[in-house]
Amino acid sequence: MDKIIIHGGKKLKGEVIISGSKNSTLPILFATLLSDEPSIIKNVPSLADIDTTVEFLNFIGKKTVKKGNTIRTYSSCKYKHIAPYDLVRKMRASVLIMGPLLARLNRVDVSLPGGCTIGARPIDMHLDAFRKLGAEISIEGGYIKTLSKDGLKGAVIDLKFPSVGATENILLSAVLAKGKTTIINVAKEPEIEDLVDVLNKMGAKISGAGTEKIIIDGVDSLRGFTHEVIPDRIEAATYMIAAAITKGDVVLKNVTPKHIEVVSNKLKKSGLCVKENKTSIRVKWVRNLKPQNIKTEVYPGFPTDAQAQWVALMCLLKGHSKVEETIFENRFMYVAELQRFGANIMVNSKVANITGVDKFSGAPVMVSDLRAGAALVLAGLAAEGKTVVSRVYHLDRGYELLEKKLKKLGADIKRVHS
Ligand code: EPZ
Repeated sequence: MDKIIIHGGKKLKGEVIISGSKNSTLPILFATLLSDEPSIIKNVPSLADIDTTVEFLNFIGKKTVKKGNTIRTYSSCKYKHIAPYDLVRKMRASVLIMGPLLARLNRVDVSLPGGCTIGARPIDMHLDAFRKLGAEISIEGGYIKTLSKDGLKGAVIDLKFPSVGATENILLSAVLAKGKTTIINVAKEPEIEDLVDVLNKMGAKISGAGTEKIIIDGVDSLRGFTHEVIPDRIEAATYMIAAAITKGDVVLKNVTPKHIEVVSNKLKKSGLCVKENKTSIRVKWVRNLKPQNIKTEVYPGFPTDAQAQWVALMCLLKGHSKVEETIFENRFMYVAELQRFGANIMVNSKVANITGVDKFSGAPVMVSDLRAGAALVLAGLAAEGKTVVSRVYHLDRGYELLEKKLKKLGADIKRVHS
């Protein structure tokens, strides 16, 4: 398994190109199942999760080809209605296969997704929504069997929590339901707006994206589309924090500043110089930063996917700070690894209490999940001495060309195949 070796202490300087959003590309890829016409998706990041989804679509019967950062899907023939465990277990977002297949085939059998390291991550809201749209659901032999004999019918769906995945699955099914569907307390993430943009390009009739309520008027069929995926706001947040933790000066290109302004504002408050332009952000360390408390929330609050990276930065700032995780029940797994660098963090249930230390010393560390891995790399960049990061396959799920981009910014970093 590959490892990443970092000799820390280098200030990051220069330009980094932010890739397309993983969490926008994934639901858009599943949306291609809603039409038999070909589609083209641009600015797609080269990541393991994207490859998994391409493999999945081809298995189901939608010919899908990725060349560089563009994916083309072709007219489809008959789709399979079964999503097997060996595909679903690789990526939780595979549950998004349910919406489109239920809409097209009136049935889908998907293997139970299995847990993941950041919590149980049930899909009860997805299933409740499908029931409201007219599907019957049973669990047999490790599969969730979903059937809507008479086809899906529009409904009012009031989400108990603005779940990103549940919102996406409802959108991916209700667009072809008979009648109107209203989703209340809907997720407002930019990735939802990007998916709605694509579905409307396909001929869907959806309004209200980005607000508390989305209304979908079902249509009979949908066209193919061409779309350029929005920039990855979490990758952008990661590089902004990387510049801060190494006391560097970095310009991020191909970003949408508005999508990550909550992190930019927190960094400004801590004393970092942050200059936003239309599609770029410059972050420059000019003075010792002051620790800032954060609480993760749904968009437009502080993103849970940038929580670990933020904690890594807080560990090296003089003073105390508090980080509260409200989205996932188990998203501090990486803290024990940060303590191997010398971090002073106490975690009780959902709150991490951090006392800044003068320096980190490089250490061998292990990645537990995608964003935790990013935090360990940031810590290694700031640490004195050598850091060896193992289980980097987690990082390959969400960060395109990570070590190449960091090396270009002046980091002493390399990947070794072992
Ligand atoms: C999406 O996951 C993202 N993944 C996650 O990013 C992100 O952390 C999360 O949204 C929150 O922003 C993708 O977009 C592929 P949720 P998702 O449904 O859809 C609970 C990354 O690093 N819940 O909003 O799974 C759930 O357990 C990944 O790129 C239910 O209880 O997030 C969690 O505690 C990690 N029942 C909370 O809601 C349900 O039916 C948020 O989940 C659904 C969710």
